Amino acid sequence: MTESVLLGMPSRKPQRVASRVGKSYFVRTYGCQMNEHDSERISGLLESDGMVPASAPESADVVILNTCTIRENADMKLYGYLGSLKAVKDEHPGMQILVGGCMAQRDREAILERAGWVDVVFGTHNTHRVLDLLDHSEEWGPVAEVWDETTSVEDMPSMLPANRDSDHSAWVTITIGCNNSCTFCIVPMVRGREISRRPSDIINEVKQLAGEGVVEVTLLGQNVNSYGRDLDLNGRSPIFADLLRRVGEVEGIRRIRYTSPHPKDIKEDVMYAMAESAAVCEQLHFPLQSGSDSILAAMHRGYNGERFLEKLEMARRIIPDLAVSTDIIVGFPGETEQDFQDTLDVVAAARFDSAFTFQYSPRPGTPAATMPGHIEKAVIQERFERLVALQNAITFEKNMEQVGKTEEVLVEGPSKKNPLVATARTRGNRPVHVDGKFDAGRFMSVEIIRAAPHNLFGVVV
Ligand code: 5AD
Ligand code: SF4
Repeated sequence: MTESVLLGMPSRKPQRVASRVGKSYFVRTYGCQMNEHDSERISGLLESDGMVPASAPESADVVILNTCTIRENADMKLYGYLGSLKAVKDEHPGMQILVGGCMAQRDREAILERAGWVDVVFGTHNTHRVLDLLDHSEEWGPVAEVWDETTSVEDMPSMLPANRDSDHSAWVTITIGCNNSCTFCIVPMVRGREISRRPSDIINEVKQLAGEGVVEVTLLGQNVNSYGRDLDLNGRSPIFADLLRRVGEVEGIRRIRYTSPHPKDIKEDVMYAMAESAAVCEQLHFPLQSGSDSILAAMHRGYNGERFLEKLEMARRIIPDLAVSTDIIVGFPGETEQDFQDTLDVVAAARFDSAFTFQYSPRPGTPAATMPGHIEKAVIQERFERLVALQNAITFEKNMEQVGKTEEVLVEGPSKKNPLVATARTRGNRPVHVDGKFDAGRFMSVEIIRAAPHNLFGVVV
């Protein structure tokens, strides 16, 4: 039986099933840091119910897929993976499969129709209901539950227990949802209107994390610059620059990062808050998307290439040694060779330290998906390769400029390739390899002795 309970709680409260103590779970996360953060909360909830992590989905009693829908290949990957899980479940009666996250929010019970072996579909705003939904499906069969406008700040996953991947670094959600209308982007449709957490809740969470030994926090929101606009604290809305300063005062937190700002909204106040708060790292993710004025207008980005570069210059003037990363989409509908050249020109002028480059992928329901002038795959691929080549060269040059500098790095752990080498990060978020075994979470001073295209090598000084 498929019971589909949409936009609300199941009408019948299920009875508590036998305890899950000792049962195992496996979470696979697709997509962005928001999802990774939500997955930590899902793991925390399951562990609060006595469950233990499994090393692989094949041996888990409960498998959770936390999905993404930002680009088309994310959808395809999910259905491919669900197909392979069916065979695992056939061999493992009683296994429960849960699908959460953005794609679940968007497709809702369509997932149960397409993959009848899924037990629970839950949306981006009801992570906190995972245990109840597991009970529900055990008793009454498959269930899909997503919430929409009823969502409140209380539903934010940050309020839930977390099982963090790292002991020294943590994500902190400051807003969920997005009020912008970038025409390529599905996030506003899926994650809904922007909701900000109260500053006091955020500060309390950061203090608690510091008390647990966390030294680095990354503040998360789709557009952190609009933080607080929906809040009214004694007739006044809190602003992001003040929040950043307050987080910067929390004792024990030595590094603060945030993602993402929106170039149209970023102002000097945030840059000064960064420059004047010792703990806020000299690092900015500044998503360009395109360098062509007409494509930027069609994307509804609210700036042109020149304005973007002016804002970047302002940021670099106020924050010396700022490391800047960006997001760029190639092949937006109507993009001509000249538009693409404009993107290359802005990339050359901006000299980003690194870039996440994407091929445009039409998302059903977004304005861009029905715009004229969709670009052939081969053309997108060829432009994409030219962009990547240009950015790789700039990244390498930027890395070489680091050689000879002494940097404070935070150790993340042994490098993936060699346990005798540690991977650490500079304040600018550049990865540095250091010979030797060092504990994760340790700060040390290193001299950068060599640069590779995508990372640096250092020795302890
Ligand atoms: N196609 C390609 N890239 C996209 N992004 C968002 N939507 C799309 C899409 N439809 C990229 C943007 C955004 C990043 C998170 O993903 O560059 O900043
Ligand atoms: Fe999407 Fe634009 Fe909102 Fe970012 S700001 S989440 S790209 S709509």
